[in-house]
Amino acid sequence: MNRYILQTESVIKQYRQYDVVITAVNRANLKVEEGEFVAIIGSSGSGKSTFLHICAGLDKADAGSVKIRGEDITKMSADALARFRGNNIGFIFQKHNLIPQFTALENILIPTIMCNKPDGSYDENLRKLCDTLDISDRLHHLPSELSGGQQQRVAIARALINMPQIIFADEPTGNLDRANADEVLHLLLKTKKALGQTLVMVTHDLSIADHADRIFRMDNGNLELQRDYLDVTKKTIDTW
Ligand SMILES: Nc1ncnc2c1ncn2[C@@H]1O[C@H](COP(=O)(O)OP(=O)(O)O)[C@@H](O)[C@H]1O
Ligand SMILES: [Mg+2]
Repeated sequence: MNRYILQTESVIKQYRQYDVVITAVNRANLKVEEGEFVAIIGSSGSGKSTFLHICAGLDKADAGSVKIRGEDITKMSADALARFRGNNIGFIFQKHNLIPQFTALENILIPTIMCNKPDGSYDENLRKLCDTLDISDRLHHLPSELSGGQQQRVAIARALINMPQIIFADEPTGNLDRANADEVLHLLLKTKKALGQTLVMVTHDLSIADHADRIFRMDNGNLELQRDYLDVTKKTIDTW
């Protein structure tokens, strides 16, 4: 039995522009245990988003493997991957990526379309998420009618509606002020704890990364461990 919920091996991604080749991700290896909070830091353009998208099956690697719960997602057909993502993976984008013509509620329910769960099975989770995220009275508003912090909370509800076991978040607090950033982290850690989720987060905010169990740094496509576990007893649970 594989103890890692996420395991990447030698992931490579290159972009070619005319005769220039950019190695965005260079043989990245990452093993994440169930329930961990892993932060990935690094300067702009170092390959963090590219790597996170590949880990979540949103982008294809040129080489290497990405296993989630022991299943290699790089080998799945597009349909199988979409279903697998819908059932197992939540993704929070930096710019929330809400569909402007859809209400908050319609945006939140998008991931449920890909999953074959009976009607109504989301109701309980939807109610709990909206309460926790304090957006229950905003569900019929369009994204443009919400504040930045509320939009990001809707995006978090969308990422969590299927109760995925692993959440990827790409600078989820990047566009928020200090108070809203701390609040979003608090909510992510709260739901992580309640659902026993694993969290892999790209952030340039070191005060947020500091709450992670382990911190990795992406440097020019190379992923390196920056800070290992501080202690055998994991830190995340106790800090909030
Ligand atoms: N679609 C793309 N086409 C060409 N180059 C890209 C593309 N996406 C990212 N890159 C390049 O790959 C490198 C890594 O980008 P990215 O993963 O977005 O970095 P980060 O998230 O750390 O800022 C950068 O040099 C960027 O310009
Ligand atoms: Mg990025």
